[in-house]
Amino acid sequence: MKVTNLDERIHVLDSECDVMTVIKNIAWSGLQEEAFYVLDIGDIVRKHQIWKEKLPRVDPYYAVKCNDNLLVIEVLAALGTGFDCASKSEINKVLSVGVDPSKIIFANPTKPASHIRHSAEVGVDTMTVDNESELHKIKKLFPSAKIVLRIRCDAVEAVCPLGMKFGCDPVHEAPNLLRLAYMLDLNVVGFSFHVGSGCKDPPVYRRAIRHCKILFDLATTLGFKPYLLDLGGGYPGNKDTSIDEIAEIINKALDDYFDTDAVHVIAEPGRFYVASAFTLATGIHSKRSVRGDENSPTIITHNMYYINDGVYGSFNCLLYDHQHVTPIPLKSGCGKLIPSSVWGPTCDGLDQVVENVMLHDMELGEWIIFENMGAYTLPVASPFNGFPIPKVHVVADEEIWLLLKDALPLTEDHFVIGNTPGNLRLGLDIGGNDINSWRDTDSTIKLPSSEIITDSPNTPPHFIYDFIEAPLS
Ligand SMILES: Cc1ncc(COP(=O)(O)O)c(C=O)c1O
Repeated sequence: MKVTNLDERIHVLDSECDVMTVIKNIAWSGLQEEAFYVLDIGDIVRKHQIWKEKLPRVDPYYAVKCNDNLLVIEVLAALGTGFDCASKSEINKVLSVGVDPSKIIFANPTKPASHIRHSAEVGVDTMTVDNESELHKIKKLFPSAKIVLRIRCDAVEAVCPLGMKFGCDPVHEAPNLLRLAYMLDLNVVGFSFHVGSGCKDPPVYRRAIRHCKILFDLATTLGFKPYLLDLGGGYPGNKDTSIDEIAEIINKALDDYFDTDAVHVIAEPGRFYVASAFTLATGIHSKRSVRGDENSPTIITHNMYYINDGVYGSFNCLLYDHQHVTPIPLKSGCGKLIPSSVWGPTCDGLDQVVENVMLHDMELGEWIIFENMGAYTLPVASPFNGFPIPKVHVVADEEIWLLLKDALPLTEDHFVIGNTPGNLRLGLDIGGNDINSWRDTDSTIKLPSSEIITDSPNTPPHFIYDFIEAPLS
């Protein structure tokens, strides 16, 4: 596959440059107004190495819904993962990069008919089911499908519980569904569960695996030949988290209940792979300083910062994914800390990103960074009120480039080598959407490269606004 849009390529950074220097480079170029992401491919590769080391028996099938960025899918395909797709269009996206249909599980227990027909046409034959009516639907539309029965086994605490919507009761419902599938002459090949996304109850994996073991035995007794155990999602992915405890519990449970190579164990991690790989940079375009102390009317009691991404964009994760975000000013501040709030750009009062945080005083044109923004952010974002969804700049260091450059579906064409100002300036938004104008060397504003990768100018760029602040009387 030939990548034609330079903006979608992976920029290879030299040893003096990292994610933060790229963010500073773009934010402080004086040319960037809109919020943007930097995606570090190395972070995804490192996550994969951790997964293989900690869960050697479990093949990861990345949950595309979590972040369907094409390069994420291509990199994971290059690393050899499988994919969990929820719909026809996710299936098409994964197939479009050359992934074999056998490496896809259609893991939505309730599927529209046309999506089932499509999966039959393209050869994605493994799919999850948790109810009678879906079994009848599959009998009609795709009778040779490989069916994975999804059971319910909820974590006592999870950021996003899923059991109220999906999963049959393993004791009362699953045996009857197995019998129905047998009567319909369907092929049940295994069992799956999802303990809840952002699982805070590692022992739940053991409980769920045990339920699956009992159902494997029952299925075998009924005449099925089950071979697939799917451990779903739930694994944390932020910078300060680890899957060690969950992995230990899973490995022990697999040894205790599935001590055989005849069972293929997979999982559907989403946030584990992408959460920490995406860092979001937002610019302060407006500010309101509240002077709430009537005895000292000159003293600022609270700063309200308005940034160029909000809950209708990337920060939808605050509402739908119950995440908490930490604002990190790009320029280290000085002076006293002031109670502050951070707001999105739309006209909705609900559009608040951070309710109350102590921050140094910041000016318009300064930048606030948010780490761990890769999970359940971009695929859900909307351009409500006309504010665009942030672009993603993709970077990797040289070691990662050497590892991936020939790993299909990635090719040399996916990479831009050379940490030159021209490369790093690609996609900056001032001057419209025509990035060609920035490639034209004559029209490019020339900054010495030292300036581009080093520190901030002392004053923020003033191109965004032009006003005279009225002195306080
Ligand atoms: C069926 C299924 N599998 C996997 C995932 C990914 O979960 P997580 O991001 O917690 O790993 C989800 C998330 O909702 C899901 O619905």
